[in-house]
Amino acid sequence: MNEDLNGIEALAYELRKFPPSLEFVANALVSDESLYDEAAANHEKFWERQARELVDWNEPWTKVCEWDLPYSEWFVGGKLNVSFNCLDRHVLAGKGNKVAFFWEGEPGDTRVVTYSELLDEVQKFANVLKSLGVEKGDRVNIYLPMIPEAAVAMLACARIGAAHSVVFGGFSSQALADRINDAEAKVLITADGGWRRGEVFPLKSQADDAVKLTSTIEHVVVVKRGGNDVEMQEGRDHWYHEIMETASAVCPAEPMDSEQLLFLLYTSGTTGKPKGIMHTTGGYLTHVAYTFKYVFDHKPETDIFWCTADVGWVTGHSYIVYGPLANGATQVMYEGVPNFPGTDRMWSIIEKYRATIFYTAPTAIRTYMKWGTQEPAKHDLSSLRLMGSVGEPINPEAWMWYHEHIGGGKCPIVDTWWQTETGGIMIAPLPGVTVTKPGSATRPLPGVGAELVDELGRSVTKGGGYLTLTKPWPGMLRGIWGDQNRYRETYWSRFSDRYFAGDGAKLDDEGYLWLLGRVDDVMNVSGHRISTTEVESALVSHPSVAEAAVVGASDATTGQAIIAYVTLRGGLEVDEKVLRDHVAQEIGAIAKPKTIYFTPDLPKTRSGKIMRRLLRDVAEGRNLGDTTTLADASVVNELQRRAVETPTED
Ligand code: WT7
Repeated sequence: MNEDLNGIEALAYELRKFPPSLEFVANALVSDESLYDEAAANHEKFWERQARELVDWNEPWTKVCEWDLPYSEWFVGGKLNVSFNCLDRHVLAGKGNKVAFFWEGEPGDTRVVTYSELLDEVQKFANVLKSLGVEKGDRVNIYLPMIPEAAVAMLACARIGAAHSVVFGGFSSQALADRINDAEAKVLITADGGWRRGEVFPLKSQADDAVKLTSTIEHVVVVKRGGNDVEMQEGRDHWYHEIMETASAVCPAEPMDSEQLLFLLYTSGTTGKPKGIMHTTGGYLTHVAYTFKYVFDHKPETDIFWCTADVGWVTGHSYIVYGPLANGATQVMYEGVPNFPGTDRMWSIIEKYRATIFYTAPTAIRTYMKWGTQEPAKHDLSSLRLMGSVGEPINPEAWMWYHEHIGGGKCPIVDTWWQTETGGIMIAPLPGVTVTKPGSATRPLPGVGAELVDELGRSVTKGGGYLTLTKPWPGMLRGIWGDQNRYRETYWSRFSDRYFAGDGAKLDDEGYLWLLGRVDDVMNVSGHRISTTEVESALVSHPSVAEAAVVGASDATTGQAIIAYVTLRGGLEVDEKVLRDHVAQEIGAIAKPKTIYFTPDLPKTRSGKIMRRLLRDVAEGRNLGDTTTLADASVVNELQRRAVETPTED
């Protein structure tokens, strides 16, 4: 692990401050310290009130939190159904005609899905899953584009107590197969293809390749979206529209135990093998319902919420599906890329649907900045009243641009820090309360205990440190699927009695937190976590590669860029493009190295450990510090010379 905090010390403070406008405060759900005070006075009672107010239960709990470090159970003994909470209760309350999703396909086709339509569809699909042999406790894989059926499939699983494992449609067949195998999923839900940048990308053929590498999938359900040709295997494959035709629209929501597994979501760690993060029912739903409501100051009658994430990531799970639907929100869901047909697509969608809350990622904001202020200026964005950011630290320049050119200078920005593991937002402003500073996620939400510590685990109250979480929270992961040792080892061993998030951060004089990125061997590329080891393993799996070292180097658009140093097997030659494509095939296009340097040797310590920190310094063009521990210093000189000469690929 590289735990060099020098970079943290070097960061300058940003001094601008932005209090919410009087108008925003006057209408905000929370406009004073009351929630903070309440949570500080009694952590469990605070969360208990959220669970009671925001979630409907079939049976009450007997204990709020069972905390047996590092395992927590929340609302122990309570029973509820997540799908009931996201759908039935709104319909029963007379909101059946309220729009759940204004969906917009990339080619411009649209669908409007109301809560009662969504409920019908979910009940039918839950019956379909049952007819395919899916039972409570089984795992179902989902590999879909951004279409309403993704939410339908997830909610149908939740309705019958099957755990879903959604795999981002950009992942390769190999990555999908690895995740299916790890979860031992019975059923796979996919589509023929989806739209991306004006073209149909195939999903079914990738799914077919994946299923060949697995032994547990019994049925594949295929949604027709792309219209591209697919092969359907008799008996195994079923068209969604055909199998739904005969399904009954009645499938009562079965009360689940509060700790019933709701989903697995795979994320990268410091080793090559992705971790199946486990989330359960009652605590997770309480956490995402609470954070959605208060961080986004959500008013169900008037707000139109748009989160630009893909359902394949945790942001899509928590803030497109579960948090918003539990709150009866009306949302925009968009299928495609932000630059089709023009670079103003996002702004045209905001204008068209009169979106009021917009939640996106810093890497996207930096891309919009590159495309120019004339793009948002073409559209009326005055419907917006609040904006969010997630996935990586947002640099003050991007924050200011977002504030001025998208928010018209009037919208609070909630910079939300959290992780796949935390289930929901942990550190963020409350928009009617917090004075924001561009680039700071401000402070922990009411009900969240976060603290910075030094290498020895001593509390840091000012300056740089490692971010830890000190109290259990309802949405916390319940472990890593099939590998509880790794769970302890990864999150609970670095500092005793604390969850270590893997991030460095800094506290300023006013107690504001400034997140500074990962301190371990995990990269953050466009807000997506990719482990260096995973990319190294993919490179080394190519027959011409002997050894590979991968580092994340600062990148103006993507946050970090993947830089690989590769040593080829004796006498072999291979094109950089071939290796980049190989990585795309092994993991997915998001993991393609931006640049590959071929080198006869990698810099190693005398004990043979690759010096990644040094390679990062080279990649970022920094002066190298002490290289005396190197076995052969000339290797680095040569790499440095080449880093200067080689233009990086876009
Ligand atoms: C890692 C978690 C949370 C959903 C999307 C990513 C980084 C996330 C912020 C933020 C600074 C952030 C951290 C974290 N991160 N949000 N607002 N400011 N860093 O989920 O793939 O689980 O990644 O993303 O490094 O550990 P994830």
